[in-house]
Amino acid sequence: MASAFLPGLLAGRAALVTGGGSGIGEGIASSLAVQGAKVALLGRTREKLERVAEKIRAVGGEALVCPADVRDYDAVDKAVHEVAARFGRLDILVHGAAGNFLAPAASLSANGFRAVVDIDLCGSFNASRAAFAWLEKTRGSIVNITATQATVPTPLQCHAGAAKAGIEKLTRDLALEWARFGVRVNAVAPGPIEGTEGMRRLAPPGIKGAEGAPDPMKARVPLGRFGTIEEVCEAVLFLVSPAGAFVTGTTLLVDGGTSLVGAGPFLDLMSQG
Ligand code: COA
Ligand code: NAP
Repeated sequence: MASAFLPGLLAGRAALVTGGGSGIGEGIASSLAVQGAKVALLGRTREKLERVAEKIRAVGGEALVCPADVRDYDAVDKAVHEVAARFGRLDILVHGAAGNFLAPAASLSANGFRAVVDIDLCGSFNASRAAFAWLEKTRGSIVNITATQATVPTPLQCHAGAAKAGIEKLTRDLALEWARFGVRVNAVAPGPIEGTEGMRRLAPPGIKGAEGAPDPMKARVPLGRFGTIEEVCEAVLFLVSPAGAFVTGTTLLVDGGTSLVGAGPFLDLMSQG
């Protein structure tokens, strides 16, 4: 899918994408680069980051890899300093790093719950806090990637739901505190996005319809299909671009209407918990 935005929209800007080594984060990093931004990729696995950076460089973009765990504030802060030193500025932070798995609350360990909240929510604070001093200089913006579980009660997802709900509240709090510095803070909540690790983990073979019946995961989406990584990228581009200049504190749903209905086939999985 070609972007609806004119190439060069972000020329001269610099961006940092946590979780940029795969999936939706990779797509966002690549789309920011296509629009002219210099892009830094943060994640735990250097090889994944290098692979994405090579792809960006191969089409003439500039990319930097920053292996770090978003749960480690000092490591994130160090990465942000490296990015600012290399690019001379920071205009855009996208926090896409996350962890998730299906687990019944009654048997989920405290450490399992904490790991997800730590990566998603505390990671978002860590990245935002470390980037703020640089974003303030450029009157830049932050986009947090959340999920519909933030607002739709979803079985086997209490850890991710709590983490993403926390991110959406943090988005609003930071948006209010940092508006006077010209720093905008928004979120994008994707629905089911095809070809991603999230879908592989959360739509396992356990969710099956009757023989010959439509895929129940797809049938749950009012628009009748899964979303694409490119469609999430377009929402992020809108928010970080001049088109979104008066938008702050919002969560933009890119979910084909999924959050308008309930948990759907996830409810069937409860009986297996
Ligand atoms: N079901 C229940 N508990 C699980 C689990 C699962 N499928 N996977 C991990 N856990 C628990 C572990 O048992 C552990 O708890 P314990 O110490 O009480 O046993 C805790 O979660 C942390 O696991 P660990 O493997 O040490 O965490 P990590 O920090 O190395 O990895 C995860 C974080 C668990 C979120 C891992 O799945 C991950 O790295 N995910 C990143 C990719 C991803 O999830 N992508 C989809 C995004 S939507
Ligand atoms: P993904 O490919 O697994 O992306 C997650 C990324 O985060 C990985 O590159 C991972 O790399 C990184 N990461 C995980 N833990 C980290 C940590 N502690 N520190 C730094 N980086 C870490 O999954 P995805 O499906 O594309 O999901 C991307 C985002 O979209 C997530 O925020 C997810 O919640 C959200 N989302 C996805 C869907 C969907 O349908 N896929 C729907 C709604 C929301 P390393 O493991 O190398 O660190």
